[in-house]
Amino acid sequence: MKKGVFITIEGPEGAGKTTIIEMLMEKLKTEGYPVLSTREPGGIEIAEKIRNVILDKENKAMDARTEALLYAAARRQHLVEKVLPAIENGYIVICDRFIDSSLAYQGHARGLGIDEVYAINQFAIEKLMPDATFYFDVDPEMGLERINRDKGREINRLDLEGFEFHHKVREGYRLLCARYPNRIVEIDASQSVETVFENVAREIERIIQ
Ligand code: TYD
Repeated sequence: MKKGVFITIEGPEGAGKTTIIEMLMEKLKTEGYPVLSTREPGGIEIAEKIRNVILDKENKAMDARTEALLYAAARRQHLVEKVLPAIENGYIVICDRFIDSSLAYQGHARGLGIDEVYAINQFAIEKLMPDATFYFDVDPEMGLERINRDKGREINRLDLEGFEFHHKVREGYRLLCARYPNRIVEIDASQSVETVFENVAREIERIIQ
């Protein structure tokens, strides 16, 4: 492999992204691939600081455009400091959330417009789109129920949005699946962890061959 591969995992809270990423890391490492997993917003110190501002439950006054710009800023820093160097060094980078989260949450659910949010993100990512994206589709009710069962998980400002918002997020992701059929693979995340893992692992094998 000359250059690395950039894979992103998308979907709502409670879709099981974290669990599947851990399983994929273990599998790929065992097979001898250089792999790196990371997450947005955050993943490095500056971006974690921005994350704290965005997700702070006290920041009720945050404007939707401010929110979109902060996600894009965190994305930029994370990309140049962590993702790009790893890709240059031939790593398979698996990132929990990337531009599609901004397009679905800020673009569609917040109503800023997918094209508008795409435009500000182009400034941040300079055309570096993922090689492949897995969208974990799950009913928002099921997702939120799974989160509530996980007592260790911290509730953030976006978790506090109502069902209507989370339904719009799902609608946004579906629009993105239709817009990027070659890049985004939709996974039914209501299935068992084993089945979801097998489906994603099979696709990744195909991509890195
Ligand atoms: P996090 O606790 O990481 O949630 P999850 O485990 O579901 O990924 O919180 C990230 C939150 O930020 C989540 O509600 C989705 C939201 N988000 C956006 O709205 N836009 C973005 O661009 C990104 C990266 C995340």
